[in-house]
Formats: sequence, C-alpha cells, structure tokens
Amino acid sequence: MPKILIVDDEKSIRLSVQSFLQDAGYEVRVAEDTRGARALLAEGDYDVVVTDVVMPGASGVTLLQAIREASPDVQVIMMTGEPSVETAADAVRAGASDYLAKPVGKADILKAVRRAADTKRMWDENRRLQAENRRYQEGLEQMVTQRTEELHRALEGAIRAMALAVESRDPYTAGHEQRVAGLARAIAEEMGLPGEGIQAVYFAGVVHDLGKLSVPAEILSKPSQLNAAEFALIKMHSNTGYQILKTVEFPWPLAELVFQHHERMDGSGYPRGLSGNAIALEARILAVSDVVEAMASHRPYRPALGIEAALAEIVDKRGTWFDTRVVAACVRLFREKGFTLDASPAAAAGVGERVWKQGEPVA
Ligand SMILES: [Fe+2]
Repeated sequence: MPKILIVDDEKSIRLSVQSFLQDAGYEVRVAEDTRGARALLAEGDYDVVVTDVVMPGASGVTLLQAIREASPDVQVIMMTGEPSVETAADAVRAGASDYLAKPVGKADILKAVRRAADTKRMWDENRRLQAENRRYQEGLEQMVTQRTEELHRALEGAIRAMALAVESRDPYTAGHEQRVAGLARAIAEEMGLPGEGIQAVYFAGVVHDLGKLSVPAEILSKPSQLNAAEFALIKMHSNTGYQILKTVEFPWPLAELVFQHHERMDGSGYPRGLSGNAIALEARILAVSDVVEAMASHRPYRPALGIEAALAEIVDKRGTWFDTRVVAACVRLFREKGFTLDASPAAAAGVGERVWKQGEPVA
C-alpha cells in the first residue's frame, strides 16, 4: 500500500485529503508544517508527499529541496492557494512531480497521487531490478573466479606431478625446482610484474627442468665432470621440456619460458642463442633464479657455495648473461628484504641441481 504524507497548515484541508485518500486505499499521515513533515519523513519510507507551498515557517519548496537531497525517488506534489508562474517554476526546478492550484478537487488530487505513486513504484522496481542485476553479475563473477581457481589448482596439480616425475629420476634435483619457482616468483613480485606474469614465472619454475626426463639418469647424477657428448645431451632438456609442455594448453606460456630458461643476454646461451629482449622477461627471471639456487645448494662434488657466492656470480654476469634489472631485484630480496631459499628437507640433505657445464664444474 503506497504511503502518503500530507503537509498543510490548514487543518480542514489536511483532514479531508487524508480521509478521501485513505478511502482510496492509501496509508496516509499528516503534518502541519515543514518541521513536522521532516520528522515523519525521517521515521519512515513515504512514496508520495503532498505539500502546501505557503506555510508558517519554512515553505513547501524548502521541504521539497530537502526531500530531493535525502531521497530522490520520493514523489512530491505541490499545492498552493496563491498560484503564480514563479512558484510553479520554482517547484518544477526543485524537482516536484506535479503542481496543483487550490482549491483542489478530489478527482484532481486522486489522479495526481495515483500518477505519483505509479511513478514511485516504477522507480522502486527499477532499483530492485538494478540491485538484482548487480547481484547476478557479482554471482557470475564469483563463479568465474571460483572456476578459474579450480582450474588453476587442477593445472597446478598436473604441473607438480610432472615435476615429481623428473625428481624421481634424479634425487640430486629434489626440491630444486620448487625453490627456483619460489625465488622466481619473489623476483617477479619485487619487479612489479602483473599477476599473470608472476603465476607464469612460478609455474614455469616448477617445471623448468621437465625435459630432463629424456636425459639418461646416469648422466644426470654423474658426480664428475661431463664430456662434450654428455653435455650435448643435457642441453637438449630445454627443447624436450618445450615439446612436452606445448601439447598442453596452459593459461601461461610455460612451454616457451622453459624453452628459454638457459638463454643468456649476450646470446651465449642455448638452445637457440637468443639475446636481449628476444628472451622473455619471465625466462630471464628463471635464469637468474636457477643459477642462484643451484650455486647456493650443495653438490655431489662440492659443498654448498652459499648465497653470497651465488649473488656475486649473478652480479659479475649482469649485462652479459643476466638481465641487470632482474639481478638487482634478486640482490635486493636477499640483502634488504630478508628473503631466504626455502629450507626444505632436500636443501637440508644438501642436494640440488648441478650447474651443468662442460669441463670444470662451476666454482
Ligand atoms: Fe635447466
């Protein structure tokens, strides 16, 4: 039932309008001045206000302005015994929905109230639909986010399974890929990469040595230095990883990043000898993370060199092998932000990836 407020200083008008509007099925309250009207308006939701213009105290136009500011949908009908073009113009400018000249006949006021109540209902319905639409949109967005998270979790599971398959063949790399992924993610965050880039770097880190599946296990775990033929076999792992990963449609360019993780800024890397910006930034981050983790970890043929030696190595090779900005971010993480490589059981046991190099092992 629409709720109507009648504001008029003349009691007889207040009561007669209230009476026939109630008979017409409206819920009607009355006030004798603007102040009383504002008190009632503050207490409840009204659909239509019918107000006199000239009253002792503040005028009906002042009331109209206050209503417009507080509740823009409430319909206001102005009534006055002293009609003038200016008053009517003021009322319309201030947002009145109708203007009636006294004496007002029952039929006129009923018609005006009915029209105003219909308009108010339309606004209410419009708002309700907008709110419903917003809830629906939010629901959809939430569902998309949830499904995306589920998909990412499933992909992450698959990626971890691949990494485990590699590690099971080569105990020396146990934990290495996880730690490289963790460091690469931290560097990407430090450099302010977007969320997609950070995820790409992390997951590429988890599988970066996937191609080692095709390298004979005895070469992977060989404690002494590698000959040229063995090193050539090792170098194939970037391409093998790429070939395996490119068959899966990931939301990140994992195959390409794995393909590039041994490329060097000056073109001296493998397998394609890419240089500078031809190497994806994410792959440049992986390259630095890979070497830092490998050097900081224990080797079958030497104890861990420690993080300081690893940082000195990347600083020494910045601009030639490594991206200068990536090196700076990595150094900042360890020196200023307290980053440490995860002390996983594998690290504690002193195993990690070999830095494969023909001839003398690094350091
Ligand atoms: Fe590798």
